[in-house]
Amino acid sequence: MLSYKLNRRQYIKLGVSGITATILSACTKDTGALLLQKHLSLTGNYPMKVYSGESYRLTWEAKNILWLSLYLKHGINDWQLFSSDIEAAIGSYDFLLPSKFTSTSLSLKLVGDGKEVKLTNLFAQNAEKINLNNYPDLNTIGGIAAIQINQETAFLKRTTINTVVCFNGACTHAGCPISYLKSQNKFNCPCHGSQFDINGDVLQGPASSALTQYTCEEIMDNNVRILF
Ligand code: FES
Repeated sequence: MLSYKLNRRQYIKLGVSGITATILSACTKDTGALLLQKHLSLTGNYPMKVYSGESYRLTWEAKNILWLSLYLKHGINDWQLFSSDIEAAIGSYDFLLPSKFTSTSLSLKLVGDGKEVKLTNLFAQNAEKINLNNYPDLNTIGGIAAIQINQETAFLKRTTINTVVCFNGACTHAGCPISYLKSQNKFNCPCHGSQFDINGDVLQGPASSALTQYTCEEIMDNNVRILF
């Protein structure tokens, strides 16, 4: 039997059998009480980009820990419980980032049996994922369709096979909701008569500035994320 001093209070005892050394236990020096070695670490590739309203998989390795809790950081140091009773042995958890998540930096921590690991400053963005299969007008270049972004109407225009632009649906004069007149291929505001072309530029006032645009990611698998 070998004994290695780790620090003032702990020793690890190793039993040697043939060429295999097995960790049997760790004991406090004072009490000799059995303390199983606990271990918790995250696995996977970080940092990670995440989007509101979408889920991603948190993975870890846990040893001698039965249950984990997941906390989400709000504010400077305000950790709020997001989920408890996560079975540690499963090693993964599909985390659904709440929609309308307002922070661009996200921090999570897993806690269990006195161990914790933090995942800080994930790159989190508010996004609406649009499946273009649901909008036949967007199958053709130049096609325009009304969509919902953050529960407000916006207009998506197909610009190339891989790209779209997205116009905010509020008139830049005084914020009235505009509509798209397909037969005239332009946008119209019912409040004071402003009109905009399909590039969002002003055709007729009183509006004096072009429609505002959302940032759009590239189309992937006929889905596109609009950031807001
Ligand atoms: Fe649209 Fe005035 S709000 S023209």
